[in-house]
Amino acid sequence: MTADPTPWSAYLGAYHGQRPGITEAAFERACDPLLGSPHDWLTAALADRPGSVLDVACGNAPLRPRLSGAKTYLGVDLSEAEVRAAQALGRGPVVTGDARALPVSDASVDVVVSAMGLMLVQPLATAIEEVARVLRPNGTAAFLLPARAPLRLTDLRPLALLSLHLRGPGSMPQHVGRRRITALLEQAGLVVTQATTHRFPFHLRTPSDARLAVQSLYTPGRSPEQLMAAEAALAGIAGPGRELPLPLLRVVARKPG
Ligand SMILES: C[S@@+](CC[C@H](N)C(=O)[O-])C[C@H]1O[C@@H](n2cnc3c(N)ncnc32)[C@H](O)[C@@H]1O
Repeated sequence: MTADPTPWSAYLGAYHGQRPGITEAAFERACDPLLGSPHDWLTAALADRPGSVLDVACGNAPLRPRLSGAKTYLGVDLSEAEVRAAQALGRGPVVTGDARALPVSDASVDVVVSAMGLMLVQPLATAIEEVARVLRPNGTAAFLLPARAPLRLTDLRPLALLSLHLRGPGSMPQHVGRRRITALLEQAGLVVTQATTHRFPFHLRTPSDARLAVQSLYTPGRSPEQLMAAEAALAGIAGPGRELPLPLLRVVARKPG
C-alpha cells in the first residue's frame, strides 16, 4: 500500500472543518437496542454526578447533554469548526485546544472523558500523560476508541465492499488496542478498571445511510470516484435489517488516591 499523500494533521483539520458533528450524526444511526448510542455507552461508565468533567477532543460536544449531572463541564478540541458547532448547539463551554497540552491545571478535574479522539493524537503517550496530570486523585478517565472486533459473519460482505473500493473500512493515524492503551495508562500511573469491546450496528437502511457511512470514515488519499463507488456499493445492499459493524472499545481507568 502506498503512503497517504496528505499528512494526517492537515487531513483531519480539513475533514472536521468541512463536516463538524459528523461523528454524532453517524453514532445516531448506530444505536444498540440495550445500550443506546456509543456516546450513551461511554457516559454510562461514569457516576450520575461525575463532578467536574473535561471532554478531550470533544468535537461538537455530543457528550455534553449526556453529562447533565456534572458539576462543571469543559470541552476541548483542535478544530475551530467543531468548537463553533458545539457552541451553536449551546453545549459549551468548549474551547479550542490540543490534547497534548490541555489548557487545565494539574489535579483539577474529577473526570476526563474522550470519545473517538485518542487514536488521532500522536504521540499518544503525551495525551495520556496529560490526562493523568489534570485528573485529581481518585479521578476517573473513560475513553471510547475504534476496535477491530467483535464482528459477525454477516459483517464480511459490507466490509469486503469497503475494502474493494476504499482499501478497507477507512483509515486512522494509529490503531489503539486494549493492550496498548492499558500499558500507556499504567505507565502514566492510572489503574485500568474496565476495558470492554462491543459491536454497535450502523443501520444501513437507505442510500442516505450509505452516504453518511462513507462520509464518516477517514479516507485520506482516496479519490472522489472511489468514495462514490463505495457509497453506491453500500447503497446497493442497503435495506431493512442491513448493518455495517461498528466495533468499539470502552476503557475506564482510575487515578489512585
Ligand atoms: C472522531 S471526532 C470525535 C468527536 C467527538 N468526541 C464525538 O465523539 O463526536 C475526533 C475529534 O478529535 C479532534 N482532535 C484531533 N486531534 C486532536 C488533538 N490533538 N487535540 C484535540 N482534539 C483533537 C478532532 O478535531 C475531532 O473533533
